[in-house]
Amino acid sequence: MKVLFIGMGYVGTTTGLVLAEHGHTVTGFDIDQKKIDSLNQGNVYFYEPGLQKILSSHLNKNVFFTTNLKKAVEQNDLIFITVGTPSLANGSADLSYVKDAAKMIGKYINSEKTVVLKSTVPIGTTEKVQKWIEEAAQNNSPVKTVMNPEFLREGSALEDALHPDRIVIGTHDRKAANQLRMLYQNWSCPVIETTPKAAEMIKYASNSFLAAKISFINEMAKLCDKLQVNIQDVAHGMGLDPRIGPHFLKAGLGYGGSCFPKDVKELIYTADSWESPLEILNKVEEINRNQGGYFIEKIKKKLGSLKGKKAALFGLAFKPHTDDTRESVSYLIMERLLKEHAEIKVHDPVVELSSDWTNQGVKQFKDPYKAAKSADVILICTDWPEYEELDWAKVRQLVGSPNIFDGRNAMNSSNIKKLGFYYEGIGYF
Ligand code: UGA
Repeated sequence: MKVLFIGMGYVGTTTGLVLAEHGHTVTGFDIDQKKIDSLNQGNVYFYEPGLQKILSSHLNKNVFFTTNLKKAVEQNDLIFITVGTPSLANGSADLSYVKDAAKMIGKYINSEKTVVLKSTVPIGTTEKVQKWIEEAAQNNSPVKTVMNPEFLREGSALEDALHPDRIVIGTHDRKAANQLRMLYQNWSCPVIETTPKAAEMIKYASNSFLAAKISFINEMAKLCDKLQVNIQDVAHGMGLDPRIGPHFLKAGLGYGGSCFPKDVKELIYTADSWESPLEILNKVEEINRNQGGYFIEKIKKKLGSLKGKKAALFGLAFKPHTDDTRESVSYLIMERLLKEHAEIKVHDPVVELSSDWTNQGVKQFKDPYKAAKSADVILICTDWPEYEELDWAKVRQLVGSPNIFDGRNAMNSSNIKKLGFYYEGIGYF
């Protein structure tokens, strides 16, 4: 099938490339000329494992990129909207990019089209998109809309797109539903057909539930800190119950990224505006917001004042295998450390610190051993596998004082302690 993607972020790029891998012909549009130039040169401009290879094998065969939307809309009858929906100051999702995309489709529509929303959008948006396209249309070409939420995790987006747990098709139109079933015919997972509103809600409820699992385990971890109980054992014991499941029970510094924080906020906003407040999600958010501060307090309890202390911070990305730093707790921790007048040295395998930070005296090192040199404390903020694999005996020789605070419970604590380090995770020792 011929498919157009409007918005070449990680969702549009990953989904488009995976559809190409399954034999479809994909055109990717973005208003950002730089992104399109980079993709046209065969370079995925963000860090996402595996995508580069797929791009190289399909570029200019069945994958094309353009900034000419008129031509792209005219030549494709199946159009995906994969633009961003960032948070506005009041917590609601900013739909301006979705609206712009809908209006542009309306402007160029020349024949019957199926428009599929993959961006995460508030309940009722798919119906609005239909209206926005029809209002902008200069002819009577029929348009059908579908909500088809994405469940891709950054860092493993390719794997998730190739092997999804489910495909959700939210539409009132039989023909559009069948078109999507055809598009996804090679996938073997369950396919759910429902209304657009239910499909929108499935996405928000899924992300909010996962965020709630994280805040739940983090709350337990804080109690475990007091009781000297290992949260990893608790999570393992809980997760073996299939009603609970083992996933998203990893205690630590909480969730960041471009999805959970914004989606939880948006659902809270929607619930408030319908006068049906989601108390549980308010708490989920509050717990998450306080996790960085809790971590700093733990460090201060052990080391006393951080003034003049050398802190080596490992990990800037909001999670491993991505260069995304949106809502990454590492930055909040850096802010707190600067306020405490600590000296900060950072390392991340892929993220580069901006001048906003280096101008404040934060130093970045490409080599984690150099970052650790003379440190009074090492803070692990992102669970990159690289950190677990470091030669910690060597690090022990390099540091000024052997203190490790592991915000992701990523280390094997007993091995680390055997080397003479003082070690504290979150609910993990
Ligand atoms: C999340 C969802 O997992 C995807 O299903 C969804 O499609 C995506 O949002 C989206 O809406 O686009 P993502 O934000 O990329 O994906 O990453 P996750 O793996 O879910 O991690 C989110 C945050 O939670 C990270 O900061 C991670 O470190 C943290 N986390 C995750 C924990 O603290 N504990 C866990 O057990 C799991």
